[in-house]
Amino acid sequence: MNRRRAVLQVVGGNKIYGGVHAIEGIDFDLFPGEVHALAGENGAGKSTLCKAIAGAIRLTSGDILVDGKRVDFEQPRDALAAGICMVYQETSLVPTMTVAQNIELGNEKLLTRFRTLNIRAQQLLQSLNFQVDPTTPVALLGTAKKQMVEIARAIHNNARIIIFDEPTASLTPEEIVHFFRLVRNLRTRGVAIIYISHALEESLQIANRITVLRDGRSVITAPASTLSRDALVQHMIGRPIVQAICGRNSKGASPRRKKVLTVENVTMGMVVKNMSFSVYAGEVVGIAGLIGSGRTEIARIIFGVLKRNLVNGGIIRLRGRPIRYRVPRQAIDDGIAYITEDRKADGFFETMTVDDNVYIGKLATKRGFTHLLSHARRSKLANYWIERLKINALQRKARIIELSGGNQQKVALAKSLVQDPSIVIFDEPTRGVDVGTIPHINEEIRRLAEQGKAVVVISSYLPEILAVSDRILVARAGQIVAEFNAEEATQDKILYAAVH
Ligand SMILES: Nc1ncnc2c1ncn2[C@@H]1O[C@H](COP(=O)(O)OP(=O)(O)OP(=O)(O)O)[C@@H](O)[C@H]1O
Ligand SMILES: [Mg+2]
Repeated sequence: MNRRRAVLQVVGGNKIYGGVHAIEGIDFDLFPGEVHALAGENGAGKSTLCKAIAGAIRLTSGDILVDGKRVDFEQPRDALAAGICMVYQETSLVPTMTVAQNIELGNEKLLTRFRTLNIRAQQLLQSLNFQVDPTTPVALLGTAKKQMVEIARAIHNNARIIIFDEPTASLTPEEIVHFFRLVRNLRTRGVAIIYISHALEESLQIANRITVLRDGRSVITAPASTLSRDALVQHMIGRPIVQAICGRNSKGASPRRKKVLTVENVTMGMVVKNMSFSVYAGEVVGIAGLIGSGRTEIARIIFGVLKRNLVNGGIIRLRGRPIRYRVPRQAIDDGIAYITEDRKADGFFETMTVDDNVYIGKLATKRGFTHLLSHARRSKLANYWIERLKINALQRKARIIELSGGNQQKVALAKSLVQDPSIVIFDEPTRGVDVGTIPHINEEIRRLAEQGKAVVVISSYLPEILAVSDRILVARAGQIVAEFNAEEATQDKILYAAVH
């Protein structure tokens, strides 16, 4: 491979944001037919490097060479013209347009007829094994499907260099298998791929070479075959990793537990069908299941995100009292928090600072509203959460859009937890969070249960479900089809229940 010429080189790449070096003196290269993985903690600079390559931002200094020639992209369109396409961590699709329109976005020949557009998109999606209807507006798609549309767009653009930023974070194991097949296929066609993932096993499996970034600097570039997971982690954080700290109460919860939330035969169209389950105070209930199993939808029904006229039947009770929220605000007032995977859509005020977002979380509660906090108290409040969730503290005064993906996720957590809810529903809580921080978030989830709160964790990542849950429910086709105690649950049993 090295005998061929690098298709891409970054030489001495620097990007400075308001005095902070997001990346510093980075040298990086990429060969045709190579998968080059980037690893590093949240905020290490992975997305920044790639955004510069893809023309979304400009380097403060340093050079980018394509086929040995210096380039200077002013916008993503320029990079695309040079054959570089990036599939973003935070999806960049236009929500009000359909899947097909989004795929064509950027190179629509004027006046392509809708029908043609849809047929072309359908063929492409099928060839990629993605189950997405091209005529659906993107706003109605879940995170995983949005990602599929982005991937399809990159392929459609015939890119020679494709950058995947956390492509598998919201895919199911089955979809990941398809995706890997796709990546290998691209590789044999000579496409060069940059692959960012916090799932280190994935990078080790799919990559030819891996580069580790730490605090904006490149620490090592080496063939994947010479690295192990432990070695990668060492390079990433420069110290041994905190082991999974969250030992569950093996005694199990006391026999006289209080039922806090019950879902009884709730039905919504074809998505949720007669779903029933209960959640008790002081426990973590994990909900596993494939995308489309109705897990996220039931959370959205409980929280009042999905309008109640969509619900066809069934009852949801909070401490015995039937509830039916019209808007999330009512759920928040009743002490329910929903921390969602789609932080862009539901989570934040993007242009406000970390401090302000945490404060807004507080204000959203009834109690919070009567206690407007002084500046000092606000800052103390934010400090507390920044410390607890290890939010990149340099970036305190940063606006949310300026945070790395993983740090955004942590602010979303803080913003909800500050409300001191009695029921907390997490939807993919560690998506995009680096391996060093996941134990801390899991610990936080366990702590909530120990404080007597009722906690629900929806996750596609089975090790996570297994690590935090007292009880595990498996959803399939809109129903809860299996239940396991923590002691008896295994990945195999859960997966089996999820697909059979
Ligand atoms: N637009 C911006 N303005 C200011 N600072 C920024 C901006 N974008 C990124 N940063 C900062 O640059 C640093 C690197 O961020 P980057 O998004 O590249 O991290 P990352 O390695 O992709 O992390 P993650 O794994 O969490 O996605 C972070 O400290 C981040 O806060
Ligand atoms: Mg990132």
